[in-house]
Amino acid sequence: MLVTGGGGQVGRALALQTLRTANRALPLEHAHLDIGDARAVRTQIGEFRADVVINCAAYTAVDRAETDRAAAFSVNAAAAGMLAATCAAAGVPLVHVSTDYVFDGTATRPYREDAPLCPLGVYGASKAAGEAAVRAANPAAIIVRTSWVFSQDQPSFVRTMVRLARERPVLRVVDDQVGCPTFANDLADALLALAERAVRGDDLDGVYHACNAGPVTWCGFARAIVAAARTHGPLACTDVVGISTAEYPTPAARPAYSVLDTTRLAGLGIALPPWQPGLQAAVRALMTQVSP
Ligand SMILES: NC(=O)c1ccc[n+]([C@@H]2O[C@H](COP(=O)([O-])OP(=O)(O)OC[C@H]3O[C@@H](n4cnc5c(N)ncnc54)[C@H](OP(=O)(O)O)[C@@H]3O)[C@@H](O)[C@H]2O)c1
Repeated sequence: MLVTGGGGQVGRALALQTLRTANRALPLEHAHLDIGDARAVRTQIGEFRADVVINCAAYTAVDRAETDRAAAFSVNAAAAGMLAATCAAAGVPLVHVSTDYVFDGTATRPYREDAPLCPLGVYGASKAAGEAAVRAANPAAIIVRTSWVFSQDQPSFVRTMVRLARERPVLRVVDDQVGCPTFANDLADALLALAERAVRGDDLDGVYHACNAGPVTWCGFARAIVAAARTHGPLACTDVVGISTAEYPTPAARPAYSVLDTTRLAGLGIALPPWQPGLQAAVRALMTQVSP
């Protein structure tokens, strides 16, 4: 399994989780493989004799993308499309990761894979364009949308909340955006399962939604993070207060509701657990690190 974006949250989790299987993964960081460099991708596929490529490479700075549109589209749309074309030409299946931010958040029940895309910001728009580019270049590619990814060893909402809970008595966190947090290791297991089936030649196609179970607001998630952290040591934080999105303006608008319906993936026998066990593991790792 050739893992692009191997230095990121999901890429690193994939490398870790692969160790628990009989598979071998070659995670390549951005510095070692640019997904837009077709020749380099071809070389890596050939030298590693990859059976499948899992694309975790992306421009993920949601707010920065608002003023860095060209860079976001260059990686998330153009380069993703190029990678898909290279995989198609090499006859190697591709699993491509996408996002809940392709939706506008006006739904009142979980988004199914065939719901219309209507991104609110540049990042979401670039990922939606990437899905289209991947599909156009490689109709057999598997696209996996996920949401609110967290891990213990990379910058993420969980790491930020643990740090702030150590420093501040009160945390004010947005309480009117609902989504499903997803532990990178659990997502990695689902991606591995899909990749194994793609290599086996199973009839997979199109888009799958993969996220941990249990919709929650950012504030609800923050409360769970603080509660988990408190079991490992004293915190400055005594209260997590819910605020509205309007009280915490950001350059990029976020969907108010981006819960993904995972029924299609479950139909393959691949189900992610609730996010709570992953959160406990991530917080335990963060709280036992020497410095936050
Ligand atoms: N994080 C989330 O909450 C979230 C939610 C939904 C979906 N997703 C999706 O999940 C996937 C993985 O995200 P993540 O959380 O692991 O993000 P991440 O931690 O930011 O990792 C992305 C990695 O891609 C690398 N990269 C950027 N441009 C590249 C290029 N042209 N060629 C090769 N590598 C490149 C980055 O390296 P540099 O930093 O060195 O450029 C970075 O290491 C992405 O498709 C993302 O859209 C993430």
